[in-house]
Amino acid sequence: MHQNEHPHHHKHTLWLLAGLFLFFFVLNVMHLPTFLEKIGFASEKEARCQTKEAAYRNAELSAEARTEDLLSRMTMREKIGQLALVEKNGLTTLDDVRDYGLGGLLSGSGSRPAQNTPQAWLGMVTAYQTKAKETCLGIPLLYGIDAIHGHGGVQGATVFPHALGLSATRDLALITRVADATAKEMLATGIHWNFAPSLDVAKDMRWGRVYETFGSDTQIVSEAGAAYIQGIQTIQDGYLQALATPKHFVGNGDTVWGSPSNPDYKLDQGDVTLDEETLRREHIAPFKKAIDEGALVIMAGLNSWNGKKISGSSYLLTDILKDELGFTGFVVSDWYGVYAIHDDQYTALVQGINAGIDMIMLPFEYKQYVAYMERALGAGEISETRLNDAARRILQAKFKAGLFDRPDAKPSELSIIGNEAHRALAREVVQKSQVLLKNTDSLLPLSTSTTHLLVAGSAADNLGRQSGGWTIEWQGTDGNNIPGTTILEGIRQTVSKETTLEFDAHANFATSTPHADVGIAIVGETPYAEGVGDTAHPALSAEDLETIQKLRARSDKLIVIIISGRPLDISEEAQTWDAVVASWLHGSEGKGVADTLFGVVPFTGTLPIPWEL
Ligand code: BGC
Repeated sequence: MHQNEHPHHHKHTLWLLAGLFLFFFVLNVMHLPTFLEKIGFASEKEARCQTKEAAYRNAELSAEARTEDLLSRMTMREKIGQLALVEKNGLTTLDDVRDYGLGGLLSGSGSRPAQNTPQAWLGMVTAYQTKAKETCLGIPLLYGIDAIHGHGGVQGATVFPHALGLSATRDLALITRVADATAKEMLATGIHWNFAPSLDVAKDMRWGRVYETFGSDTQIVSEAGAAYIQGIQTIQDGYLQALATPKHFVGNGDTVWGSPSNPDYKLDQGDVTLDEETLRREHIAPFKKAIDEGALVIMAGLNSWNGKKISGSSYLLTDILKDELGFTGFVVSDWYGVYAIHDDQYTALVQGINAGIDMIMLPFEYKQYVAYMERALGAGEISETRLNDAARRILQAKFKAGLFDRPDAKPSELSIIGNEAHRALAREVVQKSQVLLKNTDSLLPLSTSTTHLLVAGSAADNLGRQSGGWTIEWQGTDGNNIPGTTILEGIRQTVSKETTLEFDAHANFATSTPHADVGIAIVGETPYAEGVGDTAHPALSAEDLETIQKLRARSDKLIVIIISGRPLDISEEAQTWDAVVASWLHGSEGKGVADTLFGVVPFTGTLPIPWEL
C-alpha cells in the first residue's frame, strides 16, 4: 500500500475537498471578481484593461489582426457601444462617451461648440476623444461631420464649391486636391470622418439636393466620386488621413414626386420605383467604383425602393452591397434612418441591423438603444455573429484610419484652416467651374478696362448665397457671415482703375447715372438644404427678374450670372440677355468668378447636368 493511501489520509483529503468546494461556492455566490477586488487583488476588469502589450496596440500588425485581437477582448456591451453613432448634442453628460463606450459621435449640420472657432472645435473633439480613450480598452471614437464643400460648419474654413460645381471642372485631379485640403482642415480640428461624397445621381432638377451631387450622369458621378474619395483618404504616415462616406446608397436622386412620407418634402427621402436593372446601371454603379477605390464606409439612404426602406433591405445592403460588390467596410444608417423602418423602434432596430446596417446614426437616444440591443441579443433576434461582424467592420476602419496610433491634433496645426493655399485652390476651382451658357457676339470675356460697369443683384455681394446650404447652418445663411470674397468684391479687384463701377443690389441707380457699356446681374437661389429645397419649379424670383429688367434698361449689354444649386428655368427671360453664366454654389472665393468674366483665365467649365436655354 502506498503511504498516501493510508485511510487516515483519505479522511483528511475529503475534508479538504469539501472545504475547498465550500470556499469556491461562497466566492462564486459573492461574485469572485468583486470579492478579489475588495480584498485588494487586481480585479478581472482591471486586468482586462492592462492592454499596453496587447496585440491590438501593436502598430506593426495588420488592421485585420489587431481587430481580431481587440474583438476577442471585448464584452458584448462594449460591442453594442461601438455600433452607436450619437449626435453630440444628444449626450446627457460627457462621461457617457466613456460609460456607454460609444463608437462614434457626429455634429449634424449647424451643431458646433459654443463658440464657432477652430480652437473651440479642436477642444471639443479632443475632449470627446479623451473620454473615449478612458474606456477599459481605450477604443477611440470616430467623429463624423458633413464637410461636403470644405469644413463648412467651422467659421473661418475654406468653403469650396459644392459638388455640382466641382463636377463642372471635369478635372479629377483638382477634385482630389479639394478633398485632400478638406480632410486636412478637418484633421486640424481632430475630425477623421467625412460624410461625403454624395454619389447620388440627380435625375430630377426639382430636388433640393441636386447641388450635393456630381450631376446626372452615372459615369461622371462615379469618376468624380472616386477622385474625391482618393483625396479624403490620402495616405499619411501609412494611414488613411480620414474616412470618406459615399452616400446615399441608393437611388435618392431618382424618387417619385410626392412620395416622401414627410408632407413638407416632395422628392427627398421618397420612393424609387425603378426596376432592378435600371437601379443597378444608373445608381448602384458609382458605389461599385467607390468600393474599388477603397471606401470603408457607405451611408444608407433615407429613401425607399419600391416601398421598402433602404435601411431595412437586406437584399440591397447585404446581398448586393456586401456579398456581391464585396464591400468589407461598414454601412452607417442616415439620421434616424433605422427607426424609420418600422413604427416600433425595437422592431426597426432589429430589422435594420439584420438587414446589414453596422453603425446606427441614432442619433439621440443611446440609452434606449443599449436596452433594445441587450434585449435583441438576449432573445437571439440579433445574433452574436451579426454583432461581431458589425463591430469588426467598424474597428477595422478605425485601425486603417490610424485612430489607435496617431498623435492628437495640435493647436499649432489649426492655421491650415482657411489658409492662403487652400483659398487659392478654391479660387482655382471656381475659375474652372464657371459654365458659359450663352455668349452672344463673344461678349465675354470683358476687357478689364471696360469704361462703365453697372453691377446689381441679390447674390452680388452675398457670401451666404454663393455658398448655399451646409455652410455654418444646415440651411445656410443669407448675407456676409463668413470670411471670403463676394463676386462684387472680386470684380472690383479685377477691373482697371479707369473703370467706373457702380453697384446697387436692386438696380435702383440714380437717374443721373449714365447708361452703362455693360450691366452684370448676379442673381439666384436663396440657400436651402435637403427636402426643404424641393420645389416644383426652380426659377428666379420675381425680385431678381425685376432687378434684371431694370439693369437691362440701363446697359448696352447684359450679363446674367446665376448662383444656383441646380439648373433654373430661365429659357424665356434669357432671350433678351447677351450672356449667361452658370456659377453654381461656388463658396467663399468669388474672385474666381471675376477671373473668368475678365479673361484672367478662359471659361472651361462644362455642364454636369442638362440645362438648356
Ligand atoms: C443627411 C445626410 C447627412 C446626415 C448627417 C442627414 O440629414 O441626409 O446626408 O450626412 O444628415 O448630418
